[in-house]
Amino acid sequence: MSARPRVFATRQLPGGALARLAQHCELAVWEGAGAPPSHALVAGARDADGLLCLLTDRIDAALLAACSRLRAISSCSVGVDHIDLEATRSRGIPVGHTPGVLVETTADLAFGLLLAAARRIVEADRFVRDGRWSFEHRWDPAALLGRDVHGATLGIVGLGAIGQALARRASGFGMRVLGWSRTPRGVPGVESCSLEALLAQAEFVSVHVALTPETRGLLDARALAALRPGAILINTARGGIVDETALAAALASGRLAAAALDVFAREPLDPVSPLLAAPNLLLTPHIGSASIATRTRMAELAVENLLAGLAGRPLLHQAG
Ligand code: DGY
Repeated sequence: MSARPRVFATRQLPGGALARLAQHCELAVWEGAGAPPSHALVAGARDADGLLCLLTDRIDAALLAACSRLRAISSCSVGVDHIDLEATRSRGIPVGHTPGVLVETTADLAFGLLLAAARRIVEADRFVRDGRWSFEHRWDPAALLGRDVHGATLGIVGLGAIGQALARRASGFGMRVLGWSRTPRGVPGVESCSLEALLAQAEFVSVHVALTPETRGLLDARALAALRPGAILINTARGGIVDETALAAALASGRLAAAALDVFAREPLDPVSPLLAAPNLLLTPHIGSASIATRTRMAELAVENLLAGLAGRPLLHQAG
């Protein structure tokens, strides 16, 4: 019998991280299409010492009870809202995650969405492809007018690493940056203020808090109604933070000029979601960290965390 630990990985990952993991353990990788359904997740992890999972894998008390050999879990994500950390803690199972390595890439997407929403870039692309760019209107002084980003006021909800990285990008565009965090912190170039003041003043609001019981529904119907009329909302953090029905209504009424969302309360987006009928809304499928280099680094860090946990060493980044 092999003394090497058994590991179940719920997906193939970019780069060579899984090959490295396989040098140290008996590795089984879920080979089905996409995320394993919960029964396959339990079947794969039942006899495993270590679990390498993604944010699409629900790790709850029932799974832990069924997989009682587990002694280390590592998620290839910074967010850990898919893991019941109380349950892992009570079983003494360390949980690794991957903060830091995806900060700049996610901030790039947030700023890209902000620019695209402000300047109606996706709509303009469709306009050309749909053959609506006619000779008579080849340069129309009133067509596809957007909002200026330079010189505008940006409100950052959540001044963690990604919020701060967004602030750096905004300062390059000459924006005034307001910031609110649940734990107040001074960030160079960012004016700290209350959430109410931020919502009332900012022309662009970008969300960067983690999803926790305290932040779930943080931007509810009341908060959205407190946004400055004509504001543009960006969310690359987690879906549950913004009330999607209220957001769709605010876009439909014209109270908000536009929004861009990379994350949703339910992923993939519910085909009957009111968001799909909302005007001036740009949607991307949770691609904040999706660059080749960043996903490769996330995989490497997730493997480092798991190997440390299996060896009884401190994890590089432990979430719980
Ligand atoms: C995470 O890691 O939590 C992001 O949402 C995806 O990279």
